[in-house]
Amino acid sequence: MNYRQRELIYEGKAKRVFACEIPDRVLIEFKNDATAFNAQKRSEIDGKGRLNCKISAALFELLELKGIPTHFLELHSETFMIAEKIKVIPLEVVIRNIATGSLCKETPISQGTLLTPPLLDLYYKDDELGDPILTEERLKLLDLVSVFEIEEIRKITRSVNNILKEYFDSLDLLLVDFKLEFGTNPSGKLVVADEISPDNCRFWDKKNSDPKERILDKDRFRQDLGGVIDAYEEILKRIEKDSSRAT
Ligand code: TMP
Ligand code: ASP
Repeated sequence: MNYRQRELIYEGKAKRVFACEIPDRVLIEFKNDATAFNAQKRSEIDGKGRLNCKISAALFELLELKGIPTHFLELHSETFMIAEKIKVIPLEVVIRNIATGSLCKETPISQGTLLTPPLLDLYYKDDELGDPILTEERLKLLDLVSVFEIEEIRKITRSVNNILKEYFDSLDLLLVDFKLEFGTNPSGKLVVADEISPDNCRFWDKKNSDPKERILDKDRFRQDLGGVIDAYEEILKRIEKDSSRAT
């Protein structure tokens, strides 16, 4: 279908959301802007929007095939996707298979520790507050979603992790951790929203044991390692190679 781009509804750090002629749907544009540490570090990375849009579309399609509800409907162009218009739940749901990042900064757990079962943490999505981690009691106090929905969010996140971990393993990539966001769609159903890309996942190349060279995600930008776009290209290349094998 040919969607017409209407007014800007929302602009975030990495995406813009536009209305279209169908009230229950939106156009999401993936920008080249890169930010880290709550936007204290900023840059523009040519080609990042296209790569994140295509990677996210492929992963949302995979999840839908496996029965996970997502906001994704179809790709509109190389940098735009069509999605259901959702009511965003202000939570960042992080699941970790291997310890690194903030977990190792905030606890004595050493880098590279295998986390079994995977560690799931909820953060309150609020840039001004720096997305603070939530305790169970603070989560209840905030009353953002029902107890039932929280349980659903946890269950879906663990299923997404199982699906993606197995999938990336087949592409010789370790899925270290990732962040999901959720929303409710126009019929009130809980769906996975936002994006799933090297901006919000950590991927390590199984074929490389060098702790810096193996990084194929936004940590290359966060840690000034260079080769950001090459890393994102590599993720898309492996996904596309896999889908051409499947057809
Ligand atoms: P962390 O180790 O910095 O807490 O990050 C855990 C995962 O969440 C990692 O895959 C990167 C992702 N993430 C986001 O997508 N957005 C954020 O704002 C942060 C802090 C992390
Ligand atoms: N997305 C966050 C920011 O832009 C942090 C991060 O991904 O490291 O600030």
